[in-house]
Amino acid sequence: MIPKAELHCHIEGAAAPELVLRQAEKYGADVSAFIREGAYHWHDFTSFLKAYDGAAGLFRTPEDYALLAETYLCELAGQGAIYAEFFTSPDHAERIDLSARSYTEGLAEGMRRARETTGIEARMIVTGVRHVGVEAVEKAALFAAQCGHPLVTGFGMAGDERIGHSRDFARAFDIAREAGLGVTVHAGEFGGPESVEAALDTLRPARIGHGVRAIEKPALVERLSAEGVVLEICPVSNMVLGVFPDLAGHPFPALYDAGCKVTLNSDDPPHFRTSLGYEYEVASRHFGLDEEALAGITRTAVEAAFVDEPTRSALL
Ligand code: ADE
Ligand code: ZN
Repeated sequence: MIPKAELHCHIEGAAAPELVLRQAEKYGADVSAFIREGAYHWHDFTSFLKAYDGAAGLFRTPEDYALLAETYLCELAGQGAIYAEFFTSPDHAERIDLSARSYTEGLAEGMRRARETTGIEARMIVTGVRHVGVEAVEKAALFAAQCGHPLVTGFGMAGDERIGHSRDFARAFDIAREAGLGVTVHAGEFGGPESVEAALDTLRPARIGHGVRAIEKPALVERLSAEGVVLEICPVSNMVLGVFPDLAGHPFPALYDAGCKVTLNSDDPPHFRTSLGYEYEVASRHFGLDEEALAGITRTAVEAAFVDEPTRSALL
């Protein structure tokens, strides 16, 4: 099996319907609005975010989050993953009155268990949710900067990129960068090339979540390649959310051929009926990457990982 690495997965979005159904039973909740016949149901980005929030609301204790992280990471290791970074969202935890610290410690316990059973190495990227607002994103950045947890190594921003301007979030990203965290931001998914440019100019991320709509502006593709900005590409997510009509129209091969640093990721795997293993399969079958090229994608991800140098060297 080709060794794999994931840089872009939202932990709440990685909750399999079976696990969410068990949590619903535990808390006596009705999930029929977004899970039917054992699968997630939603119809557009906004209703996807609602389903995501509905599932997230059923993880309420540190042990619930430990189980979520352990389940995701063990499954990923089974697909050949040696390394994973996932996005955490203290905003979601606070909605159910769990402190950011307890939430993070719960997830860390799940990471410890998964590492013990499978050897998978993992780190957390604290995210702010853009459409929740500037204040909440700054609060998430402050937590990331000050929590001192050794497994929190990055800061990012997810949510609806069509809301607000990147510059509004510059302070949050400065806080994170100055604390020595790796920085990534979702851009160029539902926003066009101007959204990627604004993110680069105002937030100075080392990596961009998605970034795929940069393809609409050749000068931007050149810039991404020249500056070595790493793209966390999620092909199946883009297809299912309608960013591109089909895999044949996906810009992954064009970005790869243009010399951009590209990686393969699953984003919110059960929502999109994907997995990291399937993303690598897609790259092989639809984008023509052979085993050597796929191993190169994993190397790019490990090189771009928000991880200490001894750990990176051990993974390479
Ligand atoms: N949060 C979870 N998945 C997301 C996505 N694909 N884009 C933006 N925010 C998200
Ligand atoms: Zn994402």
